[in-house]
Amino acid sequence: MSSLSAKYSQFVMPDHINVVGTLFGGQMIAWVDLAAAKVAYRFLKSANVDGAVTRTIDQVEFKEPVYLGDWVNFTATIVAAGTTSFKIQVEAHAEGRNSEPRLACVATIVMVSVKKDNSGQYHKTPHGQSC
Ligand SMILES: CC(C)(COP(=O)(O)OP(=O)(O)OC[C@H]1O[C@@H](n2cnc3c(N)ncnc32)[C@H](O)[C@@H]1OP(=O)(O)O)[C@@H](O)C(=O)NCCC(=O)NCCS
Repeated sequence: MSSLSAKYSQFVMPDHINVVGTLFGGQMIAWVDLAAAKVAYRFLKSANVDGAVTRTIDQVEFKEPVYLGDWVNFTATIVAAGTTSFKIQVEAHAEGRNSEPRLACVATIVMVSVKKDNSGQYHKTPHGQSC
């Protein structure tokens, strides 16, 4: 069975750049989290939950700089499923106008599925999904 994945892309604009002229790492992590959220959305479509929250972002590695005007193409894949948690591997490939696509960033994210109770509070809840 093939693993569940999702794709997501962002274009690097001037607001995303740090003082040395490359993509700000915190911006990259925010996009990584969004890419993970997209595959989480698909993973939980048939589950009796209200959503998922990010519990950990681990093993973030910035492998190559990313520049103004590059596209960043993310692939997020579900790689493990627990009772309430599930693990997502994210890869970000930078695509420049004059360069070959390159693996710019990798990270591992654990999300936990949640459900809203009658008072509006969210609590962890089993997702009942497997991968
Ligand atoms: C996520 C949250 C609801 C979990 O509640 P909790 O009572 O702390 O849950 P637990 O410690 O029992 O962990 C829940 C699951 O996460 C897993 N987990 C917890 N810490 C982990 C870690 N460091 N690495 C990997 N998995 C972890 C547990 O093993 C468990 O998995 P399982 O049910 O599949 O066995 C709660 O910690 C929370 O609300 N955190 C803040 C989330 C947030 O604001 N995120 C940012 C915005 S999205």
